[in-house]
Amino acid sequence: MDVIQTFTTDQWHTVFDEADRTCAIQALEQGRLLYFPRLAFPVSDEETQLFSPTWLDRSAKNISYDPGRDQLKGTTVQGPGAAILRGMVARYAAATRALVESLLPPYRSCLQQARTSFRPSEIVGRKTSFRKDDQRLHTDAFSSRPTRGARILRVFTNVNREGMDRLWRIGEPFEAYAKQFFPLVPRPLPGAAWLLAALRITKGRRSLYDHVMLHLHDLVKQDLRYQREAPQVQISFPPGSTWIVFTDQVLHAAMSGQYLLEQTFHIPVSAQCEPSRSPLKVLERLSGRRLDI
Ligand code: SIN
Ligand code: FE
Repeated sequence: MDVIQTFTTDQWHTVFDEADRTCAIQALEQGRLLYFPRLAFPVSDEETQLFSPTWLDRSAKNISYDPGRDQLKGTTVQGPGAAILRGMVARYAAATRALVESLLPPYRSCLQQARTSFRPSEIVGRKTSFRKDDQRLHTDAFSSRPTRGARILRVFTNVNREGMDRLWRIGEPFEAYAKQFFPLVPRPLPGAAWLLAALRITKGRRSLYDHVMLHLHDLVKQDLRYQREAPQVQISFPPGSTWIVFTDQVLHAAMSGQYLLEQTFHIPVSAQCEPSRSPLKVLERLSGRRLDI
């Protein structure tokens, strides 16, 4: 499986030629990863001193940043340390936005920048429920934030300072995976989406698409045989490398590593060059009905 498209740039603020831009958008929408082996994110010594899982809030998996509100969550760090950490993550938010805007111009006018995260904990040995276990292959779906089909595009950078790679597994194409698990998705309970929104458990009403994507996420994580035997490849991302991927489409699992920066963007299906490749359209073909409602 050829899952990676490599780019040589070492600059966040740069201009890509047309061949690179076309190749990037085609590769992404086909479910491949864009890989930038030389695109490191510079981190100062002052910032590195805050590289420790001890600053994570007990219940949080990541430290997260809301670029719209300039607000950091999930950390116990106070005082000057908080401003330093926030500054680093805010800089990453700006750098990734510049990169995505110049590499993927068709998405520029409707790009929605969501949370930025700093992930300081070591993946190996992390105790979690199966649902939160990112060592199992899965596609991303948010239980409290319905997307109604909008895409989840994520930029990741390994900022480990001790030479530790981030090791991922990548699974088979979305359609092959969806064909196996979609028939197992139960129907939503009548009134459930309305109730979840009324109780503010979800931010807005959960669409049929969100219902299906959440079940696919859980079904594939629960299927240990699939996890073991389904087609997959391993990829090591060394420190100083960056990668971009549609995580709602690409089956992925993070097996080991520590210290990662991540930025999430949402993009409407209508902005895609080939909307028919989106999970929404694939699932609508499988179900024979509209799901963004
Ligand atoms: C994930 O999105 O499943 C985890 C990715 C990572 O932390 O490397
Ligand atoms: Fe994920």
